[in-house]
Amino acid sequence: MPVTGPRVGRARERVLTVRGVGKRFGAVRALTDVDFWVNEGEVVALVGDNGAGKSTLVKLLSGVHSPDTGTIEYDGEDVEITSPADAQRLGIATVFQDLALCDNLDVVANLWLGRELVEGTRLDEVDMEQRTWSLLRELSAKISSVRIPVASLSGGQRQTVAIARSLIGDPRVVILDEPTAALGVAQTAEVLNLIERLRERGHGVVLISHNMADVMAVADRVVVLRLGRNNGVYNVAEVTSATLIAAITGATDNAVTRRAAENAKPAPPAASDALITALPGSGPRRMRDLPHDGRP
Ligand SMILES: Nc1ncnc2c1ncn2[C@@H]1O[C@H](COP(=O)(O)OP(=O)(O)OP(=O)(O)O)[C@@H](O)[C@H]1O
Ligand SMILES: [Mg+2]
Repeated sequence: MPVTGPRVGRARERVLTVRGVGKRFGAVRALTDVDFWVNEGEVVALVGDNGAGKSTLVKLLSGVHSPDTGTIEYDGEDVEITSPADAQRLGIATVFQDLALCDNLDVVANLWLGRELVEGTRLDEVDMEQRTWSLLRELSAKISSVRIPVASLSGGQRQTVAIARSLIGDPRVVILDEPTAALGVAQTAEVLNLIERLRERGHGVVLISHNMADVMAVADRVVVLRLGRNNGVYNVAEVTSATLIAAITGATDNAVTRRAAENAKPAPPAASDALITALPGSGPRRMRDLPHDGRP
């Protein structure tokens, strides 16, 4: 298993860029002209109310759906992600909310399911177990045995196993859909620590969450969707939960949304804290570039 070491001290490169994507389901416009990007070594929270389009955006990135309009760039090249296998090949791993673990199998078997290591005609159980331990150690995971069925693990540990499994194949982008939604306080802290480990390893992490405390604790940047459109991008260091909640609920519409709604010319950004006006490098939209690491 190729495991990439921490990419500390390097400029953080853009991995994934979504420009102007739209997606309809019949009469429902799930996404309209959405921009989104992920750099390596950063945690981007994707937030929004129920039905805002978060899962749809993630499904476009993980090859479940294809966009009707817009483009997706990976490493600066236009790509089409037409299947989960395409996403995997590119290096985009998604942990969906149901985790899709096999309860009756142990931790090692779950991690390597479908990608088992073999020695001749036999499974190389020793190698898989050793690699499982080294990955779990690297993630500071609190799992005492890798030879017990995952059914007997706590919710936080199961999330850990699902995340560890997503790292087999060394993806550059890891997408987590509501990883703490079903967890208590201690287990949530465990998963947030794990997300920090992912950032240290250099992965670009997309975190879908309804929990503003989690977002504020672990994200570098927050992208707000509202009614299928962008409604603000913020650096976490410069934003309050109140501002985020206002953007999520529509108490404040940002300039991007207003522009889209009015189909008008670009206007100055709204006076809200730390609003990153839009996508770097998208030409005529007069957008300000974001520092490489996504931080102020
Ligand atoms: N397969 C589908 N068929 C029809 N409509 C869909 C489909 N998937 C999503 N939608 C619609 O698209 C919109 C966006 O849904 P999406 O699931 O992306 O929202 P979300 O932000 O993930 O919401 P939640 O927080 O509830 O998970 C909703 O109006 C939803 O009903
Ligand atoms: Mg969803």
